[in-house]
Amino acid sequence: MALKSWLNAHRHESWLRHSLAATQRVYAFARDRSAKADLPAIAGGWPMRCVPQPAPRPISRREVGEVRRAFRGQSTSFFDGEAVHELETLLAQRFGTRHALACSSGTAALHTALMAVGVGPGDEVIVPALTYVATALAALHTSAEVRLAEPDPRTWNIDPGSIRAAITPRTKAIIPVHMGGVACDMDAIMAIAQERDLFVIEDAAHAHGATWRLGCFSFGSPKTITTGEGGAILTDDPELARQARIAMNLGECTPEGVPSMELEDFRPEERLDYVRVGWNYRMSVAQAALGVGQLKRFDGIRDARARAGRIYRERLAEIPGVRVQDVALEADPVYYTFPIEVEEGASLTRNELLRGLERERIDYRLWSNLPLNRYPIFGDHGEFPIANRLCLSMIGLRTDPALGPREHHEVADALARLLRWGATRT
Ligand SMILES: Cc1ncc(COP(=O)(O)O)c(C=O)c1O
Repeated sequence: MALKSWLNAHRHESWLRHSLAATQRVYAFARDRSAKADLPAIAGGWPMRCVPQPAPRPISRREVGEVRRAFRGQSTSFFDGEAVHELETLLAQRFGTRHALACSSGTAALHTALMAVGVGPGDEVIVPALTYVATALAALHTSAEVRLAEPDPRTWNIDPGSIRAAITPRTKAIIPVHMGGVACDMDAIMAIAQERDLFVIEDAAHAHGATWRLGCFSFGSPKTITTGEGGAILTDDPELARQARIAMNLGECTPEGVPSMELEDFRPEERLDYVRVGWNYRMSVAQAALGVGQLKRFDGIRDARARAGRIYRERLAEIPGVRVQDVALEADPVYYTFPIEVEEGASLTRNELLRGLERERIDYRLWSNLPLNRYPIFGDHGEFPIANRLCLSMIGLRTDPALGPREHHEVADALARLLRWGATRT
């Protein structure tokens, strides 16, 4: 136990990482030649790994340098966020939108986007029953009500047919979530929104990619790129951007309606108005500087995650008992984590598989075990059997760049070995 915590505490150090990787290679050679090579650790075999997987280490020296630079260059202007401005410019360039607004979190970005489109008391917002709680809480923050929709059983993204069924005369907006990093069927969702005159706010917390009209990112710590905590709103619409800027900064603007965050300077003779109940959702300089560093190496991060997704997809296709998301041909998944479903009838249950992975020293990620309809704060919505089944059967596999192909194959080997062994139990 003491060794485990020591390793966990030090596994970010490069000398230790290299020696652990070498140790693991020698160990794997011996493990594969042992008489128990086909037995998982829960059945008395050698664990897939003798040491923990490398720590994710999302922040590199480059980001640390950006933070130093940001504070060195800090001015005394009204809003002292040069780094925030730089991050917003980079985000807009990278994701091809006219405006990018950096916020303090993904939840703040979603709430701000809903305020910008004017969602409020008496309105309804449709969100998937299978998502992180923040998607729906953002709607409650505006005093609107939440309506839930089922996921598609193959893509796990919100089902356009279920959106249609959830629409009422009070519906004002839809928040599709690109689950795991795989894009929703935006053509179908946009067709419904245009037909019924609804706003669409993409929750791209898992998918840092292109968005339509209004999209929100989260830069929380496990996300594709991270600023520790943080988020952003992306839009092409200047009026939505203006409204969002005002809402995320205490409702503050000049009498002419210019958001105070966009003022170069603030003169003593000038006055500011507070035109709505706003919030302080501004991003800090330190967060923004981390984001600048992360965005500058975004291609490498995205490619590593995409490669992990390709390996898992190919390997897991051979393993009976697990299923991966269906991905439309034109979708270009980002895989902040790679979700798999343990099928009904698999030789091990999801929880047995999780216990097995722990013994193999393989990390995993879990989402909630409950769909949103099970939480009374969102109201009474009836049953959502597909969301319910997925919540109880999903596992997220690591895709962060600290792992390479060798580690991704180990994960697949561990899953295959566990499920093969499961099938031999009486
Ligand atoms: C789908 C989804 N939406 C929104 C959020 C909220 O983001 P944040 O944690 O940055 O507030 C998350 C965070 O994990 C998420 O997974």
